Amino acid sequence: MKICCIGAGYVGGPTMAMIAFKAPDIRVTVVDMNEARIAAWNSDALPIYEPGLDEVVKQARGRNLFFSTDVRAAIAAADIIFVSVNTPTKTYGVGAGRAADLRYVESVARTIAEVATSPKIIVEKSTIPVKTAETIQQILVANSSGAAFQVLSNPEFLAEGTAVQDLLNPDRVLIGGERTPGGDAAVETLAGIYARWVSRERIITTNLWSSELSKLVANAFLAQRISSINAISALCEETGADVDEVANAIGKDSRIGPKFLKASVGFGGSCFQKDILNLSYLCERFGLPEVADYWAGVIRMNDHQKRRFSAKIVRTLFNTVADKRIAVLGFAFKKDTDDTRESPAIGVVRDLLDEQANVVVYDPKVPPAEIVSAVLGRGQSNPRLSVAKSAAEAARGAHALAITTEWDEFRTLDYEKIFEGMQKPAFMFDGRNIVNLEKLRALGFRAFGIGK
Ligand SMILES: NC(=O)c1ccc[n+]([C@@H]2O[C@H](COP(=O)([O-])OP(=O)(O)OC[C@H]3O[C@@H](n4cnc5c(N)ncnc54)[C@H](O)[C@@H]3O)[C@@H](O)[C@H]2O)c1
Repeated sequence: MKICCIGAGYVGGPTMAMIAFKAPDIRVTVVDMNEARIAAWNSDALPIYEPGLDEVVKQARGRNLFFSTDVRAAIAAADIIFVSVNTPTKTYGVGAGRAADLRYVESVARTIAEVATSPKIIVEKSTIPVKTAETIQQILVANSSGAAFQVLSNPEFLAEGTAVQDLLNPDRVLIGGERTPGGDAAVETLAGIYARWVSRERIITTNLWSSELSKLVANAFLAQRISSINAISALCEETGADVDEVANAIGKDSRIGPKFLKASVGFGGSCFQKDILNLSYLCERFGLPEVADYWAGVIRMNDHQKRRFSAKIVRTLFNTVADKRIAVLGFAFKKDTDDTRESPAIGVVRDLLDEQANVVVYDPKVPPAEIVSAVLGRGQSNPRLSVAKSAAEAARGAHALAITTEWDEFRTLDYEKIFEGMQKPAFMFDGRNIVNLEKLRALGFRAFGIGK
């Protein structure tokens, strides 16, 4: 069997590496039009950072895992084609700022139709609006020279930072297909691949629309929990309640459960915001404005939380941070990834620059040039923004520290030494609630968490 995956990003690369690793008899080719990305997948410095990924790729690459820019050849040879291209929020035209931009998905469908001469199973791995399979099907049928296609939905639930573990041991694999003999057979073929390492009870099969929609809904529910606890964090700060204590108390209720109840500076990442905007837009399009508004509220709360954090820094530093040095610790949207898409740190740094602070960012995995371009735009610079090589360097001479990513190393910094080198009074704003505020206060810091 031959598999091709179009899109060698955070999803395509790791998922295909895992399939190749677990199924040595299947030839897996991952293609992308981005030459630099493919070159990196073929090198020792992979284009994305994920714990454990290097080993998985090293085992399979060159054996049955290949990375290439020859999209057409890989499509022509494949029995199964995963579509794992980006589906960002539209920035233009109808639905701008909310709808998913499906231009990459559509262009891939057209290329498949052009190139394919034998039967293919097309698998939607990208997160897409419900009913996209219908669009893909129509494009394939209208443009192909008679090859038979089955379109499946197989959304990816991996989380960045734990992608390898999530792929090795997924809570579930979801496969949606047409409820026809051809559709059922295609679903079974794909299920058979995952069954090499995932138990059958964890492989859920549904109709196409349930599968497509479930991905958007899963992300909406996850993000909603974060916005819910973040909303409560604001109330805790006003009342003297401690949000971690509240989260622990409510999480013990088995109907609520303890996970995803960590208050923070807000969620980031390429998915939550885009998928909820998309869900909300879909609801509106289907004539459900109240439902659309309900979900849009999750985003509004997240935006509020990010702004609240930077506003608190300014307010606490005596209402001015102009010309003060602020060390921002962490820039990735969460720990154990180098991904900065929609990272809350971006907005925090921008707000502080707007207040004319001198901002020094440190992140253990994000390259300095990427930090600068994420904040200012590609090719731009601002003398007030710089990047340090360590947390200690960023903190030297600073008036305040702001933790924006929960990297483990920030838990164990030598805060006593850091405090010595800072301006006094020295402030700490822990946007992830990972340090012991009492201990920092004992060292002399004026220390604040979220919801504390
Ligand atoms: N990142 C995540 O954690 C995550 C998790 C689950 C699902 N998803 C979904 O998976 C999809 C991919 O996400 P990602 O983070 O991997 O995106 P990404 O931007 O990292 O990768 C997408 C890749 O597709 C390539 N591409 C686009 N059009 C192409 C074309 N016509 N031919 C060849 N290559 C093309 C791009 O060059 C890019 O390298 C999105 O729909 C996303 O919502 C992402």
